[in-house]
Amino acid sequence: MRAATGGRWGRFWEQRARQLQRQVQAREEWIVDLETENAALHLRLAQYQGAAGQSGGASAGLCSLGGPRARLPRSPHAALLRLRPVIQALKQDIKALQASFLEVFRNFWDHLQTGLSEVAEGVQRAQLQHQALLSWRSKAGHLERCLQEADSRYQLEKQRRKVLHNRLVELKGNIRVHCRIRPLLPFDKESEDPASQNSSVPAEVVHAVDDETVLVKCDRATHPPINNTYSFERVYGPAESQQVEFGDVCPLLTSLLDGCNVGIMAYGQTGCGKSCTMLGPQSTGEPVPPWQPHSDLGVLPRAAGELFGLISENPSRSLKVDVSIVEVYNNNIFDLLAKDGRTAASGPKREVLTAQEAKQEVCLLTREPVHSAAEFTALAAGSLQLRAELATSVHANSSRSHLTITATLTTAPARGSPGAHHPRAAEQQANGPQQPEGNRRSASGGRAWPGALGAQRPAEQVHAKLQLVDLAGSECVGVSGVTGSALRETSFINRSLAALADVLGALAERRGHVPYGNSKLTHFLQDATRGGGDAKLLVILCVSPCRKHVAETLRCLGFGARARQVQRGQARGGSPAPRKPR
Ligand SMILES: Nc1ncnc2c1ncn2[C@@H]1O[C@H](COP(=O)(O)OP(=O)(O)O)[C@@H](O)[C@H]1O
Ligand SMILES: [Mg+2]
Repeated sequence: MRAATGGRWGRFWEQRARQLQRQVQAREEWIVDLETENAALHLRLAQYQGAAGQSGGASAGLCSLGGPRARLPRSPHAALLRLRPVIQALKQDIKALQASFLEVFRNFWDHLQTGLSEVAEGVQRAQLQHQALLSWRSKAGHLERCLQEADSRYQLEKQRRKVLHNRLVELKGNIRVHCRIRPLLPFDKESEDPASQNSSVPAEVVHAVDDETVLVKCDRATHPPINNTYSFERVYGPAESQQVEFGDVCPLLTSLLDGCNVGIMAYGQTGCGKSCTMLGPQSTGEPVPPWQPHSDLGVLPRAAGELFGLISENPSRSLKVDVSIVEVYNNNIFDLLAKDGRTAASGPKREVLTAQEAKQEVCLLTREPVHSAAEFTALAAGSLQLRAELATSVHANSSRSHLTITATLTTAPARGSPGAHHPRAAEQQANGPQQPEGNRRSASGGRAWPGALGAQRPAEQVHAKLQLVDLAGSECVGVSGVTGSALRETSFINRSLAALADVLGALAERRGHVPYGNSKLTHFLQDATRGGGDAKLLVILCVSPCRKHVAETLRCLGFGARARQVQRGQARGGSPAPRKPR
């Protein structure tokens, strides 16, 4: 029995085991199926992930939202469940993104609107400015026209002023005489003889009574008393400066620019201040205090400055200046600018030629162009070194020659206006018909100003000369104490000065023949000394106030008084005008 029971149980367990085995097999097959399905899902998930990775941030957000804990679900449902919050979060992000995009867009729109309105305002402003610019441009054009009109009026007024200026200078006399009394200097006392030093007669015997009258008053026991007065256009006392003196010289330079020949010469005894007046104290070799570089400048540097100042005021007229420097020594003319090494230190000798229409010209004379006052004065200073000098008992640096510095101004009237705007043309208009051409020969050698010959004549070059002359000292041989060759020099000097006095005397008496040819000096200075016409001459008499030089002073003042009678008030060839007040 027990065996039957045991058999039965054995079969049951056997069947049960087989049944369980079958179930295990089924389960294993199911697991295999599930694994297969899982693998397929894995594959699909990998594909999705790849696609999500390609689409960028979303996949990354997905992954990040899933976090490291996110594991691939084993079924699509579970995967969907896992993904749902991620998708929710993504949707919220998208909404936030949309909201911020909208915000940004709104801001951008606002800015765009503001910008557009600003641009519109800017355009409006630019239009207004453009209109303003146009109106300013038309105003500028108008002003420019006004300026041109004012300029042409100014030019016309300038010409009228020149005409009046010329008349004024002519009324003052084409040959003017000034007298300058130098101060009493230490060497005046030293050179005086002891008898005179002790006498009761004052050392100063020449006085400027007023600015037109000079008085020479000297009572000497052995000589008749002297009490002479002389009148000149201007008398400068010992205290009057170079600047004041140049103030009266200056108007002549305006005449030079008007085409007149101008001569300015210093005449007087040696040691009376001729070189100092014409060239400044530097010329005498004395040191110039550095703190007073300009106050003592003589006529030459001041005239050079004035000349170039006037030239710069007339840029439309092409004006050029040539300078020649000569010294007349022993009745010979020496060219101080010639760089001829074979000749003497004072430069080669030249001859004066009288060209057509009485124009005098020095053959082969060197003419250096100068472009500024500084160039002019430097050129003159260089030549002064060559000048013949000698120490006499009157003056340690007595000049033994007549120095003439000539600046020739060449000017061409503006093109297209043949004389119509020339000062002479304006003068002609103001004066009415002029005298015949033959009587109006210009002192620049017969070339009259184009305007004076009629407005139809073509423009031509015009020359005007400024001659600055530092004459050698007129001196009494007895006083200067010179002998030998110096005595010969003195004799030549005195003869040439006598010839100059004769020329001025002949002009004063209106003699038909004026003896220009008697000396090289007068021949050379013919253009400036010619009375009437367009030549203007200023003679500056330089005198010492000293008792010892009274004889020479009287001679000098007599020379001036004689010269002064020349051509007074009859510059246009008319009869002499009554003496005018200054
Ligand atoms: N106005 C003046 N004021 C001061 N010193 C003068 C004046 N004129 C001339 N002198 C002096 O007199 C001296 C002689 O002058 P300078 O011009 O050489 O005479 P000149 O040329 O007539 O022979 C020089 O020492 C000069 O400095
Ligand atoms: Mg001198």
